[in-house]
Amino acid sequence: MSTKLDVYRFDPETDQDPSRKQYEVDLPEYGTVLEGLLEVRDAQDGTLSMRCSCRSAICGSCSMKINGQSRLACKTLISQIEHEGETITVDPMGNMPVIKDLVVDMDSFWDKMKTVGPYLKPEGPEPERENLVSNDSMMRLAVAMNCIMCGACVSDCTVLEVDKSFLGPAALAKAFRFAADPRDGHTEERLKSYVEPSGIWDCTRCNMCVQACPKDVEPMERIMDMRVMAIESGLTDSRGARHVEGFSNSVKHSGLLDEFALARKTFGFPKWGFELAPFGIRRLLRRRLPPIIHKGISTAKRVTRIFERLGV
Ligand code: FES
Repeated sequence: MSTKLDVYRFDPETDQDPSRKQYEVDLPEYGTVLEGLLEVRDAQDGTLSMRCSCRSAICGSCSMKINGQSRLACKTLISQIEHEGETITVDPMGNMPVIKDLVVDMDSFWDKMKTVGPYLKPEGPEPERENLVSNDSMMRLAVAMNCIMCGACVSDCTVLEVDKSFLGPAALAKAFRFAADPRDGHTEERLKSYVEPSGIWDCTRCNMCVQACPKDVEPMERIMDMRVMAIESGLTDSRGARHVEGFSNSVKHSGLLDEFALARKTFGFPKWGFELAPFGIRRLLRRRLPPIIHKGISTAKRVTRIFERLGV
């Protein structure tokens, strides 16, 4: 099966700007994108750089953008993504600087991973025998434990595109894995650090990390799990938690979102006035300012009853 690959090329030692190069390889129907790239490197162009090791979707080193989405090249069958005669595009991961061709600098990825303390910190005396935990609690962690730290979620994260300080989906999914482990003795301390700016409340829930993850870790869902854990443990004095509470209260009592009250609640008084003034003026000029006097819907009581039934 003849396959065309359109590959990103950049060598900082010789190139001023990145370029693209096209290759054609012959692969069996069950061939993967990684096999195509290795064929290029071994038989056509030995200067092509990429990372790979296990070729079995275990080591996580072959993550790259294939047809615009971050995936493991060794897990991506050409037959799955090639549509008759179309060229497959291959690019380095996003949100990380390119070192050469498809190889990116993952230092910031590992630095963020280290900041969440990716290991158990038990409290109290050493147990005399192994620390047994229930199956249920381990099942909750099992999804997060599947992470192979390939970086695909970070590569497609839309928050990191605009804010490099965000801890990111991979580090936060790892953070959940330890914060939710019953054997860990520092859950509260961990959660306190994750509710700080650049942590769990900075995720915009775009779902890109869920789609990119080749191991179904669903990092965004793990971040949401930690938001619930943080609120349940009383960490409610953060912008994110106040936003959730303000949103929920407004809809619960009026059936509609009171945008002014939400801003006041989220940012606190009088900060909200200063911080949101430029945004408010822009909306005013576009005549898109929400009503200053908030009116609920006529069936608000029914909405309240739904909230009460849900115990919210
Ligand atoms: S080469 Fe190891 S995950 Fe692809």
